[in-house]
Amino acid sequence: MEGKDFSYVMRVSREGYLLHDYFGKKIAPVTYEEDERGWWCVQTQGADGACLDELRQEYPCYGHTDLRRPALSCGPAGLVLKYAGHKIFAGKPKLSGLPSALGDGAETLAVTLRDDDAKVSVDLNYTVYDDYGVLCRSAVITNEGDEKVTLDRAYSASLELPRCDLSEIHLHGSWGRERHIAENSLVPGVIDISNARGGSGHQINPFVIVKDPAATEDQGFCLGIMPVYSGNHSTEIEVDQRGRTRINSGIAPFMFEKTLGPRESFTAPECLLAAADGLGELSRSFHDFIRDRVCRGKFAHAPRPILINNWEATYMDFDEDKLLSIAKLASELGIELFVLDDGWFGKRDNDRCSLGDWVVNLKKLPSGIGGLADKINKMGLKFGLWFEPEMVSSDSDLYRAHPDWAIHSEIRSPGLGRSQLVLDLTRREVQDHVINAVNSVLDSANIEYVKWDMNRYITDMPRKGFNYEYTLGYYRVMGAIVESHPNVLFEGCSAGGGRFDAGVLCYMPQIWTSDDTDPMERVYIQYGTSMAYPPSTMGSHVTDGPNQYTHRPVSMKTRGDVALSGNFGYELDITKLPESDLEAIKAQTALCRELRETVEYGDFYRLSDPFKNNVGGWMSVSKDKAKAYVTFTKMLFKPNSWYAHIRLKGLDPAARYTDKFTRKTYMGDMLMNRGILLNFPHGDFVTNTMWLVRK
Ligand code: GLA
Repeated sequence: MEGKDFSYVMRVSREGYLLHDYFGKKIAPVTYEEDERGWWCVQTQGADGACLDELRQEYPCYGHTDLRRPALSCGPAGLVLKYAGHKIFAGKPKLSGLPSALGDGAETLAVTLRDDDAKVSVDLNYTVYDDYGVLCRSAVITNEGDEKVTLDRAYSASLELPRCDLSEIHLHGSWGRERHIAENSLVPGVIDISNARGGSGHQINPFVIVKDPAATEDQGFCLGIMPVYSGNHSTEIEVDQRGRTRINSGIAPFMFEKTLGPRESFTAPECLLAAADGLGELSRSFHDFIRDRVCRGKFAHAPRPILINNWEATYMDFDEDKLLSIAKLASELGIELFVLDDGWFGKRDNDRCSLGDWVVNLKKLPSGIGGLADKINKMGLKFGLWFEPEMVSSDSDLYRAHPDWAIHSEIRSPGLGRSQLVLDLTRREVQDHVINAVNSVLDSANIEYVKWDMNRYITDMPRKGFNYEYTLGYYRVMGAIVESHPNVLFEGCSAGGGRFDAGVLCYMPQIWTSDDTDPMERVYIQYGTSMAYPPSTMGSHVTDGPNQYTHRPVSMKTRGDVALSGNFGYELDITKLPESDLEAIKAQTALCRELRETVEYGDFYRLSDPFKNNVGGWMSVSKDKAKAYVTFTKMLFKPNSWYAHIRLKGLDPAARYTDKFTRKTYMGDMLMNRGILLNFPHGDFVTNTMWLVRK
């Protein structure tokens, strides 16, 4: 199979096994039979005589003659899957209950494998697009027999590389420190890059790169793997005794189980794969694909509104007058959307109560949400609202009416996170309740934006497989609400960036990247996030200085420059700012309107790695190469430090560009080959930006 710039090659062996041959840069469509045979291995009896332990398979199973970590396992009998047929069709299949990439312009190869003895079949789907460097895989497992079959692992995709002189990169972190970059060499044995916290998690993002250890931003073998899944996920990498590398990716097998009755099927989530020459190209393949085929709806390609959110300005201590005073000033400063965050419902003056009671607090907001929205609309701003639909406080009318709706086990009271419990979204009546509760607020007022939060990990799950069922429930609830409100822009959030994944992005085209808005921390977070996700998905706001968490004092200019590299906005009490800051905000919002299309929908190039250098740098280049926004951030001032002489990327070499900030003119080839010396103002935490426009 071929997609844009890549080939994916598999073949059916003499014995009927589906073998993996190649995934990488485009090559002639030929397969070679190679002698992968070992000594001291266990072979299948009879004419077949295969030793599966030695074969690189498309969808390996454990327990017969393959004893490595499998993609699929369903109990002690062990499966032996053989090729049973294939078809090719336009588009791609919908995955039951799960989000997946759009299939316009795609072609799918569906290969059926079957174990006639165990009476289990697997349909493997491979979808390619002429215009994208991403391949979509999924797997549907069917019980074809009359007895029950219990799956204890069912990964979405498996790849077997013929080598192990490789390293892996994954994105790790915690609350306030999401998606930092870790790189490790592969060694014989198994590593499991996974998360078991209920959502996709702050700690380990569902995205892994396997690469040539020497690969750089600009060249070298790189392969990216991204399950389209928001629950407990895993990418397992095994280097085997013969120096090959098997990668399984999808739902984490830990605490997973799914029993299939006769003729029932299980659909594993989609997994996106890309192969590229260099990390930069790999990221740009994912960025284009996520923007065009994962994100959808009215806002997928629209310029994202400049917002102001009242959370860090007021927390829950506000009334209508306070909100209106912020909104009025915001409208004068060029801000386009006012977002009312937590604290507008029930009796929520602190975070110990009222989640689940999605009824406006008339003491704080006497004209209701509708009245407030109207007043804000009259000021020329759109209005948006915060929800945390999956949660319930034990001090809430909802919990008092339905204590059994909170996730709990039978033997002890559930753990509390931020004093709250998680609703059991595996239950249909709970899903329906949440859909109706949120929809009735959305239908009651002119709400044009929703921030959908999820502020704790899921504990006390009562059975194996529960997390998968929860995740499907979450998708149903979110899907129903999003689909019935096509004119609302939804932004995902989970205590900052705790659920930043392609599953969420199928419903909401942007996600709050982190609660940590200190620009120095954001340089790391946004740089790491950019490995997988485009700037159009990253919420990025200017907040108070010194920063509330780090206490680091950073200028308004630096705060603005870093935030301008994502979906721009503000989250501070602008009514308390000095005139000079208000002037700066006016200039930033005007600049954002000029450059947001380039930032949100251009090609992203990383220029200087803040994890390795004192300067973090990146640039976005418009698709027609006519414009480029370049940002370098210097962490600490060091006297007589090394000159930062940096070459830009992705420009038109023959074009003449003017930097609109300095009015200086440069040729594209000069900027990309000779490069330029970065001049930073004196001091720590400073930026050097360029807004290049082709003449
Ligand atoms: C989370 C979010 C914040 C804010 C608060 C409100 O922490 O990440 O942005 O919405 O919840 O409680």
